[in-house]
Amino acid sequence: VNIAIFASGNGSNFENIVNAIQNGTIKDTNCAILIVDKPQAYAIERAKKLGIPYRYVDPKAYGGKAGYETEIMKTLKENHVELIVLAGYMRFIGEVLLTNYPNRIINIHPAYLPNFPGAHGILDAYEAKAEFTGVTVHYVDEGVDTGEIIAQEKIMIDPAWSLETLEEHVHGMEYQLFPKVIAQITENLNKEKEVM
Ligand code: GRF
Repeated sequence: VNIAIFASGNGSNFENIVNAIQNGTIKDTNCAILIVDKPQAYAIERAKKLGIPYRYVDPKAYGGKAGYETEIMKTLKENHVELIVLAGYMRFIGEVLLTNYPNRIINIHPAYLPNFPGAHGILDAYEAKAEFTGVTVHYVDEGVDTGEIIAQEKIMIDPAWSLETLEEHVHGMEYQLFPKVIAQITENLNKEKEVM
């Protein structure tokens, strides 16, 4: 299975997934391309280091969301991408990608959905003094962090933790859960292909 990873910033989940592919935790899967929406995304440096092709697509350069996603589609088609993995991609997905990749776009969110959706899942849980939070992998639909949940894990928040400590715990959980879920999904996609 060829996958594309979309990222906007740091890219630690991107790197973690590529490592999982390279060390065989995720089998028979190729990270064909990294797509970024910001030219300064640190994920680009990671892609260079890892030898993964990448492309920056400027969201403002193609006359709106549909034009932008149509441009991305060209790259996805060229690379025969079958699954889109959002890993810190800070933009909602529009109709063009959703119709071209029905049930083939997944996202990781750093909270226990439906609790604390949105761009600041960890901070929001921390500030709310929530008893627990977690991480969630879900299918992507037109909403923000609303698609069907595939897997999630919970962590109790120790009230003595700093925000940084909570962040470390949550990111650590992401690095465990996301590759596991991707391995499962790509294994299923590979099986579907064998049947066809
Ligand atoms: C992760 O916490 C992810 O859950 C969220 O954005 C963060 C991205 O971190 N959507 P990184 O770019 O993978 O380091």
